[in-house]
Amino acid sequence: MRRIAVLVSGGGTNLQALIDAQKSGIIHSGEIVLVIANNADAYALTRAADAGIASEVVLKKQLGSQAAFEEKIKELLKQYAIDVIVLAGFMSILSESFTSCYPKRILNVHPSLIPSFCGEGFYGLRVHQAALDYGVKVTGATVHFVNEIPDGGEIILQKAVEIQPGDTPEILQKRVMEQAEWKILPAAVEQVCSAM
Ligand code: GAR
Repeated sequence: MRRIAVLVSGGGTNLQALIDAQKSGIIHSGEIVLVIANNADAYALTRAADAGIASEVVLKKQLGSQAAFEEKIKELLKQYAIDVIVLAGFMSILSESFTSCYPKRILNVHPSLIPSFCGEGFYGLRVHQAALDYGVKVTGATVHFVNEIPDGGEIILQKAVEIQPGDTPEILQKRVMEQAEWKILPAAVEQVCSAM
């Protein structure tokens, strides 16, 4: 059984999808044992508490630097003996000195079909706004390994989602989550844990 940590910043609907997948047995080769938030107000923390999962808040502002922030996260990952790290709506880019410690051990979910609408500056609703501005008719979500290139690591799973006339970034975000993210993230986590 692999020990999983989920890193979050906000609402945590992807964390919820992982918790639900664990309950239903879709994820059976790993267990979520820790949630780390970089925002004390993240609703994801309530979801972790409701599921009986330990959580920790790590604040870059309080720690003073990116290096200290990453060092603190590393300490927690060690303390909880974490094997697999899942970035689920984690809105902070981790440096190479962090990512290089966990090759093929960090997964991220991104709300587009990489290599479209990804990289630095493309997060949350901005990704969907960019897809709508470009006028693409199909978008989707990608789960990939995290390396030193933002959204540039090896792709694990992708799923396409159609854009509909009249879509707003909010409507599109919801469809991409429901049809793609909440399905491929648990599937990718199980795939990685079972192959380890
Ligand atoms: C999700 O759509 C996730 O793919 C995206 O933020 C949202 C978080 O929602 N992540 C990124 O844009 C990362 N570049 P959640 O907190 O409800 O899971």
